[in-house]
Amino acid sequence: MTLLWSPVELGGIPLAHRLAMAPMTRDRSTPEGVPTAMNAEYYAQRASMALIITEGAQPSEDGQGYLLTPGVHTAEHVEGWRRVTDAVHAEGGRIVIQLMHVGRVSHPSNTPHGRRPVAPSPVRPAASMFTATGMEPMPEPRELSPAEIAETVEDFRRAAAAAMRAGADGVEIHGANGYLLHQFLSGNANRRTDRYGGSIENRIRFAVEVATAVAEEIGAERTGFRISPGNPFNDIVEDDAPQLYRALVTALAPLGLAYLHVAHGGDEALLKSIRSDWPGPLLLNRGGSDLQARVKDLEEGLADVITVGTMALANPDLVARIKAGAPLNEPDRATFYGGGERGYTDYPTLAETARALT
Ligand SMILES: Cc1cc2nc3c(=O)[nH]c(=O)nc-3n(C[C@H](O)[C@H](O)[C@H](O)COP(=O)(O)O)c2cc1C
Repeated sequence: MTLLWSPVELGGIPLAHRLAMAPMTRDRSTPEGVPTAMNAEYYAQRASMALIITEGAQPSEDGQGYLLTPGVHTAEHVEGWRRVTDAVHAEGGRIVIQLMHVGRVSHPSNTPHGRRPVAPSPVRPAASMFTATGMEPMPEPRELSPAEIAETVEDFRRAAAAAMRAGADGVEIHGANGYLLHQFLSGNANRRTDRYGGSIENRIRFAVEVATAVAEEIGAERTGFRISPGNPFNDIVEDDAPQLYRALVTALAPLGLAYLHVAHGGDEALLKSIRSDWPGPLLLNRGGSDLQARVKDLEEGLADVITVGTMALANPDLVARIKAGAPLNEPDRATFYGGGERGYTDYPTLAETARALT
């Protein structure tokens, strides 16, 4: 465990130790996408994590897919995020805002403008999503024109600048889990015949353009990037994952980003090759595994930092609990998405549990 508690530098972001919080959408911002005082409290409670990677925040109206997710593209969003970053910093924590454009994983009734979702190609994902009127199939998206692709890159650039104005320590670009960047990467969601589709070189172009623009805007040392090789979530098919991710990682490497965050899907050989191709810090999310397996990744040199999602969600004092060898609270899946304080800010700390027992 000694390595776990040793400091590390992610580009321009110094971390006190190596256990970070993975990004998790919680659908508890205002209908306008403004982070609230309750959101600030939730993140501040978890400030002892080495780094908090926030829930995905949409860089534009088109980027929204789920209800009550935060935005990071208006003055009100910046004000709301400022509340969050101030609260985390006051507790000595570090926080980066995840920039998440959902692309085709959306529904008109979940967006402020009510328009059709946008995507690399008009390919409907074979999946449904939660809307204000219950579960609905996702509609066929509209294909982005080359000019709109360039505009979307600029949306990411502006959102990164907004995140920095809001006091974040940096941003993480969401290139994973079947959302817009991942849709461009995958051969089944991306059927384009222009310079953004077809060959691997073309399919990685959008992701690299976004990373380049964001790094130019706020500094590469403040920019992280998340990938999820081989993850079929949101109807993604990747039949060339080893070559695809090798090409992407090699193209991102010269940018000198703060970190690469891998949401690991199980291909151990691919993970090892990414580790050796990536020259910078690597954050690893071995989803669904116990803590021992994750710490082993660190000790075996597969990662520089490990990230945990649901463990941090359910344990505001996760670091103290692990150090004390104390049992962990179990996450309540029923309250993951939407709602109020229950299942959000009311998970007890060790001290609170002890008080309740006496
Ligand atoms: C409630 C919930 C919301 C999530 N939202 C996001 C998100 O906004 N962005 C993202 O990249 N991953 C998201 N994920 C995936 C997590 O970051 C993580 O990869 C996943 O939970 C598996 O890791 P774990 O076992 O450490 O929780 C979410 C997961 C959960 C449980």
